Amino acid sequence: MEVAFNFISFVFFLSFIILLHTQWRKKAKPRRKLPPGPWKLPIIGNLHQFMSDSQKPTHHVLGELVKKYGSQGIMKFQIGEISAVVVSSPAVAKELLRSHDLTFTTKQQFLAIKTLFYNGLGVSFSPHGDYWRQLRKIFAMELLNAKNVRSFSSIRHDEIHCLLAHLRSSSGQLVNVTERIGLLMSSIICKSAFGKVFTGREEFLEQIKEISELLGKFDFADVFPSWKVLHSLCSNKNRIMKAHRKVDRIIENIIKEHREKLESGDCLIDVLITQMHKGGLQLPITHDSIKGVILEIFSAGTETSATTAVWAMSEMMKNPRVLAKAQAEVREAFRGKEKLEEEDMDELPYLKSVVKETLRCHPPVPLLFPRECREETVVCGYTIPFKSKVLINVWALGRDPKYWEDPESFIPERFEKSSIDFMGNHFEYLPFGGGRRICPGLGFGFANALSPLAHLLFHFDWKLPPGDTLDMTEINGIAVTRKNDLLLIPTPIHLC
Ligand code: HEM
Repeated sequence: MEVAFNFISFVFFLSFIILLHTQWRKKAKPRRKLPPGPWKLPIIGNLHQFMSDSQKPTHHVLGELVKKYGSQGIMKFQIGEISAVVVSSPAVAKELLRSHDLTFTTKQQFLAIKTLFYNGLGVSFSPHGDYWRQLRKIFAMELLNAKNVRSFSSIRHDEIHCLLAHLRSSSGQLVNVTERIGLLMSSIICKSAFGKVFTGREEFLEQIKEISELLGKFDFADVFPSWKVLHSLCSNKNRIMKAHRKVDRIIENIIKEHREKLESGDCLIDVLITQMHKGGLQLPITHDSIKGVILEIFSAGTETSATTAVWAMSEMMKNPRVLAKAQAEVREAFRGKEKLEEEDMDELPYLKSVVKETLRCHPPVPLLFPRECREETVVCGYTIPFKSKVLINVWALGRDPKYWEDPESFIPERFEKSSIDFMGNHFEYLPFGGGRRICPGLGFGFANALSPLAHLLFHFDWKLPPGDTLDMTEINGIAVTRKNDLLLIPTPIHLC
């Protein structure tokens, strides 16, 4: 009897201690409130939702999913083994990039990025830390310093005049505007950053297209990293390696050409090679760092500005009212001039608004590269778990009806009397990103898009080929571009 009593007392005592302990734990660690998200399947998670809409670009699919399953513009989802959070609301983007920027400054390295971009040794993909800081500083001081940016305008001017000569010779004929603007931007970037257009530029551009396609593709190895046995069967690795070998050969040649003439050069590549030989930096710049920088300047600098200019032309063709207003502004501002000078661009506020509106409707990087959460963090009341990948949907921020009136329409006037800029302080408008990793080439990129447009409108009238209804479908890549090239017919005009 006494034994039974002791046993029951012991069980009661134990239950009491367990109850106390659970209560204490509940108090000490409040339950985490994770962002809401769609119901997921075992193993694949939400992959089926992305696959069922495979025709749509990822930023559209994510934008729709957040509207349906998210709350306050934030949603959690799972793709295979990868846990991710997507943000579509300016308020959440502000908290992430302003209050918690340091927690989210390291970008995720995909298989394609690791292989093609030299293990992320350039500025864009290197993890946040001293190495990135040092490289970004050299990038900003040597490529984008005030003196260089001024000298780039004369490079731009000369290259635009080559384009104009080509267009005059094609008067009345169909011109592939996408291709021509792509060549123009690559020449501007090559001459500005590498001192000249290097041998093999055309092949490099071809490979950039291939890289662009590969970066926009789903890769089994990225979402099921632990299923190594299946990687050789289901991954794009072979295609990635093939593109890497071709690009690497061209980049090696660029570096060789620069090494041979090192004393006479002072472009970014020469500076990096000199730094590599001199040593003395806290974290050394290696041969692969230089290769990574060459590839990222060429790809990031060329594709983004080119696609902005092409989308702006497309939107103007689709909106004849805007085209007529922008053309009238350019022709009025430069009446009596034979050619436009770079410093004249300040006299084109409406055309600037056209480019800003283009960056809102068609941000070249609509989903900022996934950033890895460094430690569990609460953002706008939701817990973002450690190691989750965080994506900011810049395209959706630019269409939030709480911030933008009639967001689906192309209305450059909305920027005319507005103080909104793209410097990363207005979280409903982040075409160049924000926080510490904001694009360092934003001024250069904007000018590279604006100036050719001014010339195209000043010197030519434009029309669509007969029967063309201007398909505006987008396609994923390094930058989101038009799926079909823009084809237009120029007619030179003679103003006096
Ligand atoms: C219209 C033109 C351009 C657009 C829309 C654009 C957009 C962007 C965006 C969205 C990012 C990511 C920012 C983030 O993750 O928060 C970025 C990063 C970057 N961009 Fe641009 N960009 C343009 C032109 C350029 C040019 C001309 C260059 C160089 C010549 C350049 C070099 C870079 C680099 C190096 C980074 C990585 C910065 C870092 O991670 O620290 N971009 N750009």
